[in-house]
Amino acid sequence: MTSDFGRDLVAALSAQPRSISPKYFYDAEGSRLFDRICELPEYYPTRTEIGILERSVAEMAALAGPQAEIVEFGAGSLRKVRLLLQAFEAPARYLPIDISGEHLRDAAAILRREFTGLDVQPLVADYTQAMELPAAAGPGRRIGFFPGSTIGNFTPEEALHFLQGAARMLRGGALVLGADLVKDPHVLHAAYNDAQGVTAAFNLNLLVRANRELGANFQPARFAHYAFYNAPLQRIEMHLVSRERQDVTLAGERFTFEEGEALHTENSYKFTIEGLRALAVRAGFRPGPVWTDPARLFSVHWLHAP
Ligand code: AVJ
Repeated sequence: MTSDFGRDLVAALSAQPRSISPKYFYDAEGSRLFDRICELPEYYPTRTEIGILERSVAEMAALAGPQAEIVEFGAGSLRKVRLLLQAFEAPARYLPIDISGEHLRDAAAILRREFTGLDVQPLVADYTQAMELPAAAGPGRRIGFFPGSTIGNFTPEEALHFLQGAARMLRGGALVLGADLVKDPHVLHAAYNDAQGVTAAFNLNLLVRANRELGANFQPARFAHYAFYNAPLQRIEMHLVSRERQDVTLAGERFTFEEGEALHTENSYKFTIEGLRALAVRAGFRPGPVWTDPARLFSVHWLHAP
């Protein structure tokens, strides 16, 4: 197996318990399914975060000051960064960092057309690893942007490591961080077990992708989407659970799934506001304002990088 996905999936199936990184959800079909998830009535994070951003960008713009440089970790939804770019005073540069070059170039082209005078410099890199940013282009502050509660996909150790790296890269500026909050487990459960089955399709698409890209022979119908809230660990877990005893072939190797045996596909950690601020302090940030929605479903944090 020459691809990262192939190597990681073989390693996942060879281990006990079996688990793989959720980053492999996002092939073209997976990205399309995720966009549909964001529109679901049960999936509150996207629309709630956008509402919070709309209500807080003016305050953020004042904190950022003129000619800021926005560094986005992951080229995410243009809708969100657009709110910052529109509200900030003469933003000087936008540096989106993503491993998918194609996605990056599309986003860059759209924003260049929309914001004439904005210097857009996409960086093809893995933002979970420490990296050197290009030298500051002007006198403005460097503002990091990491929305969507993508930080919830990291283990607590990975989250700390990521934030430490971000604090170093953003020195003298700040990080705008979106984090989903702990709440009634039934609300969380519904968000990952939608009535239309879009989240199930998103989870199962990992197997469809493995068949197409790696020549595996998963039968998706023989696996169940299973998502639940693990309260002591404050995280949603997603699994693909084998409905029966079955063999799967990948890279010339045969892997057996017992009935009920699972492949763990995602963790989505939830945070308390105080817990997230404490983590940020450990990583070297000085927490600033926090914005939330009236139902306290989601939070957006301004973290100063001294
Ligand atoms: C993109 C990681 C924030 O955890 O809510 C949505 C991904 N998984 N439904 C999340 C996801 C299942 C999402 N993040």
